[in-house]
Amino acid sequence: MNSELDDFVNQLQDEIYNETRQEFGEIAYKRWREPKFMGRIDMPDGYAKLTGTCGDTMEIFLKFENGRVVAASFMTDGCGPSVVCGSYAAELANGKSPEELADFNGDMILDIVDGLPKDHEHCAFLSAETVKRALDDYMGKSVKE
Ligand code: FES
Repeated sequence: MNSELDDFVNQLQDEIYNETRQEFGEIAYKRWREPKFMGRIDMPDGYAKLTGTCGDTMEIFLKFENGRVVAASFMTDGCGPSVVCGSYAAELANGKSPEELADFNGDMILDIVDGLPKDHEHCAFLSAETVKRALDDYMGKSVKE
C-alpha cells in the first residue's frame, strides 16, 4: 500500500517537473530545482525589498568590499521564475562595482535563462530593479559616511 502511494507521489512529482521544464525551459528549470544565492546576509551594505504588481516580493542583499560586491543573495515569496530570476540577479551582482551595476537590467537575466514565458518576464525586471534599489541603498549610506 505504501509503495503504491509512493509510486503515485513520485509520478505526480515527475509530471510537475516535466511541465515546469517545458514551460520555463531547461536553464530556468535547473536553477529552480537548485537555486543558488538564496538566503539572507546579516548586516548587508545594500538592501532592498520590492513588491511587484503581481504581489510577489523580492529582497536583495549586497555586501561590498573595496568597491565591489563580495556577496549577494536574494529571498522571495514569489513564483518559480522569481526564484530563478532572483538567483541569477544575485549571481550577476557578485563581483561587480557600483558603476557596473548601474547598467543592470532584466533583459540581462532573460538572456541568461534564454527567455521566459511572456507572463513571467516581469519576474526578471522585478529582480533587476531590486538589485538597483539595493545599490541605491549602499550608495546612500556611502555618501553619509
Ligand atoms: Fe510575480 Fe514572478 S515575480 S509572478
